[in-house]
Amino acid sequence: MRIDVVTIFPAFLEPTRLSLLGKAMTGGLVDLRVHDLRDWAHDRHRSVDDTPAGGGAGMVMRPEPWALALASLVTEADLERPETGVSDRPLLVFPTPAGELFTQRQAEQWARRPQLIFACGRYEGIDQRVLDYARAELPVDVAEVSIGDYVLAGGESATVVMTEAVTRLLPGVVGNPESLTEESHGLGSPGLLEYPSYTKPQDWRGYPVPEVLLSGHHAAIMRWRRDQALLRTARHRPELIAALPAGELDEHDLAVLAEAGFERSHDEG
Ligand code: 6GU
Repeated sequence: MRIDVVTIFPAFLEPTRLSLLGKAMTGGLVDLRVHDLRDWAHDRHRSVDDTPAGGGAGMVMRPEPWALALASLVTEADLERPETGVSDRPLLVFPTPAGELFTQRQAEQWARRPQLIFACGRYEGIDQRVLDYARAELPVDVAEVSIGDYVLAGGESATVVMTEAVTRLLPGVVGNPESLTEESHGLGSPGLLEYPSYTKPQDWRGYPVPEVLLSGHHAAIMRWRRDQALLRTARHRPELIAALPAGELDEHDLAVLAEAGFERSHDEG
């Protein structure tokens, strides 16, 4: 997968060179290129911002450098996977607190694209005509995406977050693909958070590993883990329990939740 990031702070993307994603890059699975927006600012001061039309606080990013940058970074889409039903056009992402919420489902869809382009805005944002232009004139799909209900100073850290979420789903990036199916928000456990994990020693400073995990009784371990996932989800994210599809919770699940004080009847959700 090719990933292009346009920013006025290229150094902000340095952390992506570390760890898992760094390995994916050296292994050739991810081709991440970070670009300085100012390379496309051709006036004498290489300026990228100006005062807002209509007045108000702060500065807005000028459209021309963005249009030049984005047009030059869109690669020829390879449109040769009709069977997947997923668009093979590059996806142009504008990280913004005013966007739709980024979720694991998005990460899964994006992981099937040939190219992601992140346009990182600063100040009060990018002139809206850049998005209108991209939607009308570039062979890309355009998304305005937020990573949560809080405000960051720019799109760079959100881009690091989204890049990590997407690239770890690419085949070959995570050593053991099974670890992707059991995790919170993952494919294998729709709507439940992950159960807690333990390792050796069996007794650590007087805190024991839960006995069932040492029993060797596979079915009992699975049941305990599901109970823990249910309780954790009810405690931390009750709205996820309420949103579970009907039939997702059996009698035992409901009993576990009820015993902990979380009531949820069959016909809910
Ligand atoms: Cl994607 N950008 C900015 N600037 N703030 C955010 C965000 C993105 N997501 C949440 N807050």
